[in-house]
Amino acid sequence: MIILGIETSCDETGVAIVQDGVRVLSSAVASSLEIHKKYGGIMPEQAAREQVKCLIPVLEETVKKAKIKLSQIDAVAVTTEPGLIGSLLVGIEAAKTLSFSLQKPLIPVNHLISHLYANFINQQPAFPAVCLVVSGGHTELFLAKSHQDFKWLGGTRDDAAGECFDKSARILGLGYPGGPVIEKASEKFIKKNLQLDNSQFAIKLPRPMISQNNFDFSFSGLKTAVLNQVKEKKFSKEFFAYELQEAITDCLVKKTQKAVNKFLPKSILVAGGVAANKRLREKFKKTFKNGLFLAPYNLCTDNATMVASRAFFNMDIVDWRKLRVSPN
Ligand code: KG4
Ligand code: ZN
Repeated sequence: MIILGIETSCDETGVAIVQDGVRVLSSAVASSLEIHKKYGGIMPEQAAREQVKCLIPVLEETVKKAKIKLSQIDAVAVTTEPGLIGSLLVGIEAAKTLSFSLQKPLIPVNHLISHLYANFINQQPAFPAVCLVVSGGHTELFLAKSHQDFKWLGGTRDDAAGECFDKSARILGLGYPGGPVIEKASEKFIKKNLQLDNSQFAIKLPRPMISQNNFDFSFSGLKTAVLNQVKEKKFSKEFFAYELQEAITDCLVKKTQKAVNKFLPKSILVAGGVAANKRLREKFKKTFKNGLFLAPYNLCTDNATMVASRAFFNMDIVDWRKLRVSPN
């Protein structure tokens, strides 16, 4: 079965054609990231306008690369929740139009859950699975017993992990998006580290909620801790980047471990933009020797491959007239 997926929940415009949920025939992503960089964050109105500009060219490119005709696809899948309403609507209207004009079934997809399906491309994680979605807007843990049974275990009570990277990078003047620049700055710190004296390690950022007996996270205090300590100008930006990355990754690994110890899953799935972080991947690999699935680098940030894959495994077909956007 060939599914065409569309992803427009935020600042990426993605279209992909995936066979049987596991084989990518083609995929393309356009991003308006460069435009948002100068504002230090995403401007929703601008993101929606870029979606309008990019969707048709990305769609055409994807179909051309797959060497098929649009009429050969069996279904259309689209992200309907959660996300920026203006951006989501662009993908949804395109998907409705394709469904109507091609007379093909339409499958709505939840963006958070779809991130996890980056792990189903060319491989088959077994259930039950403990799942961590860690992105710019979300930090959530789920227990999945099947493709149709995702139970939410806990999540962030305030900022998402990616948001904490982004906001802290802004405080440190390192640029946007925060995750990759913090990762780079912290690598610099590690390289220089040998020459530093131990006083550089005199402060430690907090690991909020790490010892609490739940599956929740809290990252907004970390950003405030960075803000307060940066003012003292005692430490380098690279040191803060290093320590922030350590603090965030410690919390993510520890709470996932808590869930794994409790539910004894067959697989552990990690996905979302922050899953691209090398230090996070290293810590997960060290902690979980069996059943660990880390989303491939190119499928960590938003893309439509994961949307088409999720749709194949959860064929929740709706009439195009009834498809609704649900931003929250
Ligand atoms: O999944 P995604 O593309 O969009 C959302 O659904 O939110 O994730 C974007 C987030 C941003 O906060 C970005 O800073 C973070 O993922 N990110 C990273 C890395 N690459 C992207 N965070 C840490 N390390 C990275 N290498
Ligand atoms: Zn996302």
